[in-house]
Amino acid sequence: MKLQNYVSWVTGAAGGLGQAISRKLAEHGSHLILSDINKDALNELSKDLAVYNVEVMNLPLDVADTEAVRKGGREIKDRFGRVDILINNAGISPKGPKGPIPFKDITIEDWNRVIAVNLNGPFNCSQVALEMMVENQSGRIVNICSQAARTYSPVTSAHYAASKSGLLGLSRKLAGEYGPSGIRVNVVVPGRIDTPMTQSVDEELSRQAALRTPLRRIGQPEEVADAVVFLVSDEARYVTGAVLDVTGGSLMI
Ligand SMILES: NC(=O)c1ccc[n+]([C@@H]2O[C@H](COP(=O)([O-])OP(=O)(O)OC[C@H]3O[C@@H](n4cnc5c(N)ncnc54)[C@H](O)[C@@H]3O)[C@@H](O)[C@H]2O)c1
Repeated sequence: MKLQNYVSWVTGAAGGLGQAISRKLAEHGSHLILSDINKDALNELSKDLAVYNVEVMNLPLDVADTEAVRKGGREIKDRFGRVDILINNAGISPKGPKGPIPFKDITIEDWNRVIAVNLNGPFNCSQVALEMMVENQSGRIVNICSQAARTYSPVTSAHYAASKSGLLGLSRKLAGEYGPSGIRVNVVVPGRIDTPMTQSVDEELSRQAALRTPLRRIGQPEEVADAVVFLVSDEARYVTGAVLDVTGGSLMI
């Protein structure tokens, strides 16, 4: 077990990638703090995770809500005294019935909400986690980004691309600033992965994406989770500020 007795905080834990990441971390012996806005799904997940014999703390919250995240941080400190691993995974990707929302149709309210969840969320959670990580002079953060931050993405909307591009910049800054404190910050860029986020749009988009992908299929959440576990494990002890593309080859830079 690579992560025995570590304490990991996963945001968006009730979603497709979040559940797979939480399971893999538990499989490797890590205790878990699970955050999401979907309380019922969190309850279901924590029941499923009982088989791994790790401590699981449900911490339902909206990552965009700075006060709620700070309060959550205090609850984590009371329960575990520390957080070793943070996975900033919560995200939203608004789309229209046929795919991306045309730029002219994005309202300022929609724009602000996407930035609030996808960029301010990692800001809020990282600030809270880093305070504890600095105290321990140790920590690992993985930010779940997107191909839309690395190249032009025809399948996502402008606010999503902008938020994930911001997350990439934030990740690099944090890797540089906190490396001297023994904290590693890395990025995983999933390709098209089979989760509720992609299942909610036209199935044809996933079929076309598979055809454009050298490995000729879309990815499974567990395949992203394996990359996350690698980055937070000691096997990646000299890896920080890195961007790991898990895209079946659909992105090659
Ligand atoms: N699925 C893909 O193909 C894909 C590709 C690239 C990047 N991503 C990124 O991976 C991450 C996970 O996506 P997914 O595919 O599992 O999506 P998903 O919709 O299955 O899961 C997202 C989860 O985040 C939660 N969430 C949404 N807003 C929140 C908030 N304000 N606070 C807390 N939780 C919130 C949702 O309730 C949901 O459980 C996202 O950041 C997404 O942008 C996904």
